[in-house]
Amino acid sequence: TTKIILDCDPGHDDALALLLAVANPMIDLLAVTTSAGNQTPAKTLNNALRTLTLLQATTIPVAGGNQTPLVAPLETAPEVHGESGLDGAELPAPGFAPQPLTAIELIAQTLRQSTEKVTLVVTGPMTNAALFLRVYPELAREKLAQIVYMGGAMGLGNWRPSVEFNIFVDPEAAKIVMNFGLPLVMAPLNVTHRAQIHKDEIAAVGGIDNPVAHAYFGLLNFFERYHEDPKWGFVGAPLHDPCTIAWLIDPTMFTTAKMHVDVETQGELTRGETVCDYYQLTGQPANTEVLLDLDRPRFIKLILDSLKHFN
Ligand code: BDR
Ligand code: CA
Repeated sequence: TTKIILDCDPGHDDALALLLAVANPMIDLLAVTTSAGNQTPAKTLNNALRTLTLLQATTIPVAGGNQTPLVAPLETAPEVHGESGLDGAELPAPGFAPQPLTAIELIAQTLRQSTEKVTLVVTGPMTNAALFLRVYPELAREKLAQIVYMGGAMGLGNWRPSVEFNIFVDPEAAKIVMNFGLPLVMAPLNVTHRAQIHKDEIAAVGGIDNPVAHAYFGLLNFFERYHEDPKWGFVGAPLHDPCTIAWLIDPTMFTTAKMHVDVETQGELTRGETVCDYYQLTGQPANTEVLLDLDRPRFIKLILDSLKHFN
């Protein structure tokens, strides 16, 4: 099993990452922390509690993160995720309370208590991850195995022409994480845009008869509608965040390449663009394993099987 801490901003696809992490015995979800991103920090924290309540995972410690990105003002994504951050389903009220700790304190406590190294998975802006590395660098070097994140892109953007949302929200945090020196695995838009769930597959979710699948059916339908705009050229909805957990469960589903990745924080048009040195033009050693493609049917099967787990 892989021990993980999931730092997320739920968020429809974050809720799918939580689903994969809870439903699969290969993953040992030690703690969940939340970031400001898709919605305000109060809402993403509440959404993590509601999602874990739905998933009957109320013993997992949860803590809320920093109120804002490190430098930029917070920009949220209500057009993608709705006013609640998880529009489209009736989720249960939180059945448990967050820890009386900040996100970075919960990460530190979890790492200290773990005898094994832990993977930090980040599916929102990197604010908490960066703060943790800055405040607890030795603990991070001693106890973090790697950081697996959804963010950035090689030549694509979904929030600005060449800028992905998670990195857009907190480029300075991404800069700290990418240059800290821990092994990194990146799930950029290049792979997540291939991780589309098609409409007939969403219908198949609707056919799974348990309360968890019913809720995710509502979430997927809401999330799919934003991506119906023909400008994207999508068949369904890109399931960004669960690519991180799917990689930890079964890396053979993915095609990857190792390269140096950094982030632009100054650019007039490109602040938040991830600069991926695919052809090794800088001579800098590779710091990141970048997911580039995946076996989509196997990925979708993993999602459906995870939902059936609650039958
Ligand atoms: C990322 O942005 C958020 O809206 C999603 O949850 C995902 O983490 C995709 O760009
Ligand atoms: Ca997210």
